[in-house]
Amino acid sequence: MIKLGVNIDHVATIRQARREGFPSIVEAAAMCEKAGADSITVHLREDRRHTQDKDVYSLRESLRTKLNLEMAASEEIFGVALDVKPDFVCIVPEKREELTTEGGLDVKNQKNKLADIVDRLKSAGIVVSMFIDTDIEQISACIDIKADAVELHTGKYAKFFKDNGANSSEFKEEVDRIFRTSCAAVKNGLILNAGHGLDYENIEQICKVPFMNEFNIGFSIIAKAVFIGLEAAVKDMKKLIN
Ligand code: PXP
Repeated sequence: MIKLGVNIDHVATIRQARREGFPSIVEAAAMCEKAGADSITVHLREDRRHTQDKDVYSLRESLRTKLNLEMAASEEIFGVALDVKPDFVCIVPEKREELTTEGGLDVKNQKNKLADIVDRLKSAGIVVSMFIDTDIEQISACIDIKADAVELHTGKYAKFFKDNGANSSEFKEEVDRIFRTSCAAVKNGLILNAGHGLDYENIEQICKVPFMNEFNIGFSIIAKAVFIGLEAAVKDMKKLIN
């Protein structure tokens, strides 16, 4: 069965709109877990626009499942990761002006820097993943730097589905690329995850890709929760994935 990781950054986005201390990210995580989430993800951005350092520490204490910390390859956030010791770290590219993570990490062109970060995180017992585009060369680079896992960026998959439809050549070609990169990853012992832009409409097709370990989904679940509640939104997604 493919696992579901729920990204709860946008619960913190709502809280930060008023800085009142609610809605609680710890309560939100517990509700997701109750509804069947297999892990909880937060992205500690350098500008701290949503999740705060104290949230990461609180989640480490409260979670009954796994904590996945998304972070840029920066020394400052790296210090937090080593202190908190999440179960998983996913290294992502980060730009201050972006609304959300726009593309995959260019592992190929920063192998030395990333190999060092992977080594130090793995030495602390953390499983390390790279958020990459659906590109075989990036998979090879992830193998070279001894990453444990990859998370395939499904932004293009989601965009082509929405703009061009499931029968379009653009969408089918991207599904094909996901398929090929997935096979290359798994054949070389990498754990295979995927995320970004996955929602209740587009999830069905990607579930057909074999060897998928986990989807990380945030925005669509939190947005749906506004209307039907968080527990129901997580349960609905779990049902679709299974
Ligand atoms: N995976 C990674 C690495 C991300 O950066 C994000 C966005 O924060 C997600 C998954 C979740 O994307 P979405 O919020 O579009 O579901």
